[in-house]
Amino acid sequence: MSENPSPTASYTMGYSEEFQQLLAQRSCETHAAYLLPHLRSGQRLLDFGCGPGNITVGLARAVEPGEVHGIDMEASQIELAQAAAQAGGHSNTTFHVGDITDLPFEDNFFDVAHCHAVLMHVPDTQGALAEVKRVLKPGGIIASRELIGNSSFMEPGFEARGDAWTTFMRLLQANGGHPQMGWQLKKALLDAGFTGIHASGSFDYFDTHDEVAFLHRFVKDWFFLPHVIGAATSFGLATQEQFEQWSNDLDQWLEETGAIGALAFGEATATKP
Ligand SMILES: C[S@@+](CC[C@H](N)C(=O)[O-])C[C@H]1O[C@@H](n2cnc3c(N)ncnc32)[C@H](O)[C@@H]1O
Repeated sequence: MSENPSPTASYTMGYSEEFQQLLAQRSCETHAAYLLPHLRSGQRLLDFGCGPGNITVGLARAVEPGEVHGIDMEASQIELAQAAAQAGGHSNTTFHVGDITDLPFEDNFFDVAHCHAVLMHVPDTQGALAEVKRVLKPGGIIASRELIGNSSFMEPGFEARGDAWTTFMRLLQANGGHPQMGWQLKKALLDAGFTGIHASGSFDYFDTHDEVAFLHRFVKDWFFLPHVIGAATSFGLATQEQFEQWSNDLDQWLEETGAIGALAFGEATATKP
């Protein structure tokens, strides 16, 4: 599987096995719960930035027999999504390699457009939203759940150790991303001309022993990959020595009584007038 090819690549997370393990934890029920009450059988739905399709297949179940289209710029992700849909028998799905800012669909095509953890990575928020709005029918719904970096934490001791997380957020930003997109969703949707906006929020919590161990393993595996360290150091955001210190800090966190971690997300639904 390919990884970010260079420190200047614009998608921070890359497509390593390590990151796929985090995505594999996601489902429609847990990560698109705020959208489920809006879904009806027969709706035509777009999942833009669908990744390996873990959420998409649940959305496909919710609107069956409506058509579901997943799109992602990375071919390896689309192959995984196709395999997941086939394994689940979701014959109402079609997956495409393509860019969110240039969607291969006609105007007024979809009833619903969904994305999860995608707008936070797209430099031109308004360009992407304008394109999604174009392919939505009037009255169609857009739904997005995006990271709130400043409300995420690994406690106890986060205040003392938080500079690793701050570096991650700066790296996202250096790559054109938006680490606080979950806070900015309402304004971004208003600016794009959507109406009837309903914004809320939720956490992905890591509190049981196994969940804390998973988060520790994931951060150790992903954040210390050569391409991540290479990108952070080449942007001048951190030094190799700091990464070594953070690796030790992380091991200490795992040993803490009461270790707990959380990723905070803002989520919003809105309507195309
Ligand atoms: C953090 S992953 C989220 C995947 C999936 N939505 C989930 O939450 O499991 C972000 C995905 O957005 C895709 N992506 C980022 N920018 C894109 C763009 N401009 N066009 C298409 N896909 C894009 C990436 O390739 C990646 O698969």
